[in-house]
Amino acid sequence: MSFLNGATVGYDAVNNKAVFIDQTLLPLEYKEISTDNYDEMYDAVKTLKVRGAPAIGVFAGICAAVLINKIKTNDYGVLMGEVEKICADFVKCRPTAVNLKWALEKVLCEGKISSGENIKQNLKTLALKMAEDDISVCRKIGEYGAELLADKNAILTHCNAGSLAAVKYGTALAPVYIAKERGKNIKVYVDETRPLLQGARLTAFELENAGVDATLICDNTAAAVMAKGLVDAVLVGCDRVAKNGDAANKIGTLSVAVLANFYKIPFYVCMPFSTFDPALDDGSQIVIEERAADEVTDFWYKQKMAPKGVRALNFAFDVTPASLITAFITEKGVISPAEIKKYSTEDTF
Ligand code: MRU
Repeated sequence: MSFLNGATVGYDAVNNKAVFIDQTLLPLEYKEISTDNYDEMYDAVKTLKVRGAPAIGVFAGICAAVLINKIKTNDYGVLMGEVEKICADFVKCRPTAVNLKWALEKVLCEGKISSGENIKQNLKTLALKMAEDDISVCRKIGEYGAELLADKNAILTHCNAGSLAAVKYGTALAPVYIAKERGKNIKVYVDETRPLLQGARLTAFELENAGVDATLICDNTAAAVMAKGLVDAVLVGCDRVAKNGDAANKIGTLSVAVLANFYKIPFYVCMPFSTFDPALDDGSQIVIEERAADEVTDFWYKQKMAPKGVRALNFAFDVTPASLITAFITEKGVISPAEIKKYSTEDTF
C-alpha cells in the first residue's frame, strides 16, 4: 500500500516516520521507505535515494520533525540542543543544493521561537507545511511556465527536475504537466545525464507514467537535436542561484546553455525561491559538490568501463552564467536574470 500516493517524500505524522521513494531503485522497482533513523535519513540524501533540491529541503524538514518527536523528554534545552546538532550535521550532506540549508534554517528558527511544550508540535506543523507549500509553489511554476509553451512545442531538459525532484510536479517539468492539463501536448527530449542517469532512470520514467511524449537522448545528442531545429525551448531546474542570476544545476547544464545560446533557443531555469541564495554575489561563490570517482568509472555499468586506477573528476554540478539564461520561471512569475537581484532573503520564506 502506498503512503505517498503520488508524492516523492512525506511525513507519516501518525507513526512519526519520514517516508520516501528509494530513487536508486527506479525505474525497475518502486519502493517506499519509512524511517525514524537518523543514519538512514542521512544516507538517503547522501546516496541520492532522495534527491533534487526541493525534495531534499522538504525531506530535511520532515526528518528534523521526526527525530525531535521521537525524543522522550519535553525539556526545551535538550530538544533545542538536538535540533542544533541535527541541523549542523545534515546541512553538510549535500553542499550545492541550497534548499537543504534553507529548510534547516527554518527548522532552527522554528525551534528558537518555540517553548518547551510546543517545539515538537511546531516542528511537525512546519514539516507538513513545507511539503504542502512545495506542491503549491511547483504548481505555480508550472502555471507560469505553461504560458510560454504552445501546443506541440518540444522542449529539452537535463537531469531530473520533475516530480521526483520535489514533492509533486517538480520545477522544470511542471510547465509540461500543467500544459498537458490545459490540452497542450508537449514533446520532451530527455538528456540521459551522465554519470548517474537521472534523465534516463527518472525523467523518462515519470514522463512515460504521466503519458507525456518523451524521447531519451544521450547527453551528447543535445547539439544534434537543436541543430535539426527540433527543440523550441530548454527547461532545467537549479540547485542554487546567486544574486546576479548565475545558476548552479546538474553537471552538463552549462553545455546545454551554451548550445541553446548558439542555436538561439530560449533557455529557462525553473526556480522556486527556496533555491535562491542572495547571500552570494555570483556563481563563483557556489560550492560545487564533488562525488566519488566510481560514479564515472563503473557505478551504472555491469562491469568496470575504465582502466583500473584511472583518475576521474566528478563535479556533480556546474554554474550557468546569468548571460545565458533567458528567464527564471518562479512561483512569483517569469523573471529576467537582471531583475532577480531585486529579490531578497525575505522572498525565500
Ligand atoms: O544530484 P541530483 O540528482 O540531486 O541533482 C538534481 C538536479 O540537478 C536538479 O536539476 C535540481 O536539483 C533541481 S530539481 C527541481
